[in-house]
Amino acid sequence: MSRSPALRRLADEVLEAPDLGALARILTGSLPRTFAIPEATLLLWNRKLDRFEALSPGETRPRPIRPGQDGVAAPAARFLLADGEVLETSGALGDGVLVPLMARSGLVGMLVLGAAPGRRKRKPFRRRDARLLSVVATRAALALENHLYQRELIESERMAALGAMAGMLAHDFRGPMTVIRGYAETLGQGGLEADEVRRRADLIVEMVDRLQRMTTDTLDFAREGRRLARRILDAAELVETIAADLAEQVPTVELVRDFRVPRGTAAAVDVDKLRRAAVNIAANARDAMGGHGRLHLSAELLGGHGPEAPRLRLVLADEGPGVPQEIRDRLFDPFVTRGKKAGTGLGLAVARRFVEDHGGTLELLPEAAGPGARFRIVLPLPPPPTNPAP
Ligand SMILES: Nc1ncnc2c1ncn2[C@@H]1O[C@H](COP(=O)(O)OP(=O)(O)O)[C@@H](O)[C@H]1O
Ligand SMILES: [Mg+2]
Repeated sequence: MSRSPALRRLADEVLEAPDLGALARILTGSLPRTFAIPEATLLLWNRKLDRFEALSPGETRPRPIRPGQDGVAAPAARFLLADGEVLETSGALGDGVLVPLMARSGLVGMLVLGAAPGRRKRKPFRRRDARLLSVVATRAALALENHLYQRELIESERMAALGAMAGMLAHDFRGPMTVIRGYAETLGQGGLEADEVRRRADLIVEMVDRLQRMTTDTLDFAREGRRLARRILDAAELVETIAADLAEQVPTVELVRDFRVPRGTAAAVDVDKLRRAAVNIAANARDAMGGHGRLHLSAELLGGHGPEAPRLRLVLADEGPGVPQEIRDRLFDPFVTRGKKAGTGLGLAVARRFVEDHGGTLELLPEAAGPGARFRIVLPLPPPPTNPAP
């Protein structure tokens, strides 16, 4: 029986694996199954820690292997696959095969395959299969390098952002705190006119609200993990929910609706995150319009014919002065803020992250004929997963 077609298919699948988990499933699942090999283990080389990590089936985060701790359940190996050739090593225990995963940057991991049944006395693979297996390994190494490198990048970006954020918080909190402390002190001493007492109490409340907002924005931005709490609802209902939330959270803005989303398309989304993205955009519109004004919210369903998943397009357009020219390029970067006393510059960064977590896009549209800023959200609405057959 020829395994070539299956191995060639796997070589392609390896390159297309969307994440580390998917890649691991191919290497420790589909691949050994092709050879009827019952067990396989994937070890990842962590170049920062200089040690291997194990990725167990079903896990997405590799676990470091530490000397002296309980070992990794890997098949015992006697053979080494090198450059398409199966080499026999001496003195080893089992009949498994070590497959080093070498990428441009060097070793990125090791696949340990168990013994293939029925080939006990011979080399574990035919020549042709060994060569194809090498191709799979090379591609897997390439894909692995990309995934691991991406993970490092995300982590270091997050650290840099966190550092900047801690500095910003320390700086921005100090002012309001000093004011609050001073006012609270004078209130405690008595002797102030009733009007003045009320004014100072109002100011304290206002400042605390501001600190609260800054904390929420910062946490939204810094929060670890980007998991979505998806819930299934009708796309039309989703739009209504977002509109209702805007009316409640940004009450001084008059919402002008133009909804063209017929019922009957299901959306599996994190409603809360999408609501917050919209609220951040609307709050900016309110600020830009000096506290009051109109916000045009239009909603439309795109595509959805044939195999293509439908997309929801939302446009939020205000009647303010538009986004200042000098920050247009960096508008969605964290900490970019202009012309506000209490701006954190995180509102749009958070909004974009929430939308992108759904595989969607958030963009500022080019200035139209009239004044005002227009933001567009496009959200793919993949069909919700059907329940697996029992
Ligand atoms: N609708 C809008 N009209 C004009 N300027 C806007 C609008 N939305 C955002 N901006 C500009 O973009 C900046 C960044 O917004 P954001 O990320 O929400 O941070 P923040 O609101 O805390 O400043 C704002 O400070 C403002 O200058
Ligand atoms: Mg904002």
